[in-house]
Amino acid sequence: MDKNLIKKKYQKKINLYNYYNKKYYDDNISEITDSDYDKLKKDILDFEKQYKFLRSNKSPLITVGYKPSKNFKKIKHKVPMLSLANAFNEEDLINFEKKISNYLDEKKKLELEYSAEPKIDGISASLVYQNGQLTKGLSRGDGKEGEDITENLKTIPDIPKKILSKDFPKQIDIRGEVFIQNSDFEKLKSQFANPRNAASGSLRQKNPNDTKKIPLKFIAYTFGYEKGLLAKSQGEFLKKLKDWGFKINPINKILSGTKNLMENYLEIENKRNKLDFDIDGIVYKINNFSLQKRLGNVANAPRWAIAHKFSANKGISKILDIDIQIGRTGALTPVAKIKPINIGGVVVSNATLHNEDEIIRKDIRVNDIVEIERAGDVIPHIVSVDLKKRLSKSSKFVFPTKCPSCGSNTIKEFNNTTKKKDAVRRCSSEGFECEKVSIEKLKHFVSKEAFNIDGFGKKIVQKFWDLNLIKLPQDIFKLNFTKIEKLEGWGKLSVANLRYSIEEKKNISFERFIYSLGIRHIGLENAKLISKYLKNSSNFISLSKKENYQDLLNIDGIGETQINSIKNFFENKINVKIIKELNEILKIQKNADIKKDGILADKSFLLTGKLDGMSRAEAKSLIEQNSGSIISNVSKNLDYLIIGEKPTKRKIDAAKELKIKILDQRDFLKILNKTS
Ligand code: IVH
Repeated sequence: MDKNLIKKKYQKKINLYNYYNKKYYDDNISEITDSDYDKLKKDILDFEKQYKFLRSNKSPLITVGYKPSKNFKKIKHKVPMLSLANAFNEEDLINFEKKISNYLDEKKKLELEYSAEPKIDGISASLVYQNGQLTKGLSRGDGKEGEDITENLKTIPDIPKKILSKDFPKQIDIRGEVFIQNSDFEKLKSQFANPRNAASGSLRQKNPNDTKKIPLKFIAYTFGYEKGLLAKSQGEFLKKLKDWGFKINPINKILSGTKNLMENYLEIENKRNKLDFDIDGIVYKINNFSLQKRLGNVANAPRWAIAHKFSANKGISKILDIDIQIGRTGALTPVAKIKPINIGGVVVSNATLHNEDEIIRKDIRVNDIVEIERAGDVIPHIVSVDLKKRLSKSSKFVFPTKCPSCGSNTIKEFNNTTKKKDAVRRCSSEGFECEKVSIEKLKHFVSKEAFNIDGFGKKIVQKFWDLNLIKLPQDIFKLNFTKIEKLEGWGKLSVANLRYSIEEKKNISFERFIYSLGIRHIGLENAKLISKYLKNSSNFISLSKKENYQDLLNIDGIGETQINSIKNFFENKINVKIIKELNEILKIQKNADIKKDGILADKSFLLTGKLDGMSRAEAKSLIEQNSGSIISNVSKNLDYLIIGEKPTKRKIDAAKELKIKILDQRDFLKILNKTS
């Protein structure tokens, strides 16, 4: 397509997008369905991905809708909405009680009574009632000022709009939590990251009709300003809330003594995964209102209350099944399918079991009740099995001795370094003979660090495999585009783009080529070392003929393990056929192609943050191909700092201090002459 035509089409889409945004956010009118709106947005993003020269600051990548704060009026809370101090263990609770006792300084030791209330992880809201009528509903905001979300809150069935009870105060702000039940969230999980996000997003809709569509719930637990409240304790107040028609938490309790608080805490933590709402701790409040009053507040939290938090990253669930996944290197990885559970705001339904040894060591079985831990972005894993809860008829898990994909024997190799058998069991097929391994190898072949073919992701690999369009890597370069064009979701334009991206990537560096083959133990670094040593792909291919693998031992960093792996690779006829054919089709750059007098000669670079559509490895190799070098710290020796998305502020500050030139992706590509 002509560049001007593309620009025109793109601009048209942007104008439309801005028009719908303005209508929606300023005039509160939806002229387009949500899914059509999302489609339009995706369309723009796809366009930008395909035609990199299009990026503009009008792009939805940059302008994410209109500011939501414009939507709602800010209103001051008559009594601030405070937060709570946290406790994490029994010692913290003992200290909390001690501080209170000291503060009250009573002659005789007080037996302090608490209202222990599960802390629902939702969004707090304040409901202002005047003469029994709900007049305003506010979000917490910054605690002092909230947003006026009255109309949205009114759509929640749990919130009474009019209260006729005689003992209902003339004026009162009832406060509580807006949330979504886990069972309801199941149906919404494609739209939101977690139940809390879903609740918060729905409450902030400009149009209350959109809020109404989401099954929000409300549980009341405290009050702010009040005139005419006749309750002497939190327990009494909670009872009244119920009489007035509010929902209160069904597992609230009145308790005293830190021992009893601990017992209740552990009991609730244990049944946490069976509750239909997410809780992240227990709130303890001094029950007696006159004591609460005496205790007052510190900064922005009351002295009379504390939140006893659950450890955020663990949960209890049940193993429903154990699946075996097969990786690119034939490794069989067992994965536990667990009853979905929310851990720290993320719904977890899979947990890795690592390998066969791990299953044996922990004796993990289907139907076991297990503790699951999720730390950071790593895949959740099983910490322990609750043996007391094991069913008597349960039997040991038998690890498959045949590959579930191709039926070959599975083996545990002897590890020369550890002098022990590997913990990992592998499919013994030669790679491309096993369906699952082949698919994984192909996914690796097109991945970011390897061929990085635009628009050719993991899903496409699977789809093309299922349609028999690709079985071996070279098939990617012999695709039947006429057939693809007829597939659902494909058209002339998308096929032309795919064709273009594939064609573009036929020109590949020697090191990336080696890496893309997915030879075990040959990652990016080793591929680079080998490419430097062997210089070109013919030398690489002839390794198989000459069988002089030991020669590679000259490379600093390459050892027996890597050499054995390369040997195994070349001993497989299919692999040899693959590289020979690829060598014919591709233009594999010689290592010597890397110039010493390129445009970046003598210039050093440091990258911080993520670049768009380009991996760190690709940027690095681009720099090196043009004779530049990469260094790992900001120092006087650095010439350019390239910043991508979410850069490290420290590096930018240091670079500014040293007056080092800072480039964004565009500037960087401009230097390389890669943009228009
Ligand atoms: S009492 C002045 N009770 O916890 C006391 N808060 O960190 C503060 N929360 O923003 C409120 N369940 O969203 C109270 N039973 C409960 C609660 C609860 C959840 C949340 C609330 C508040 C946060 C305090």
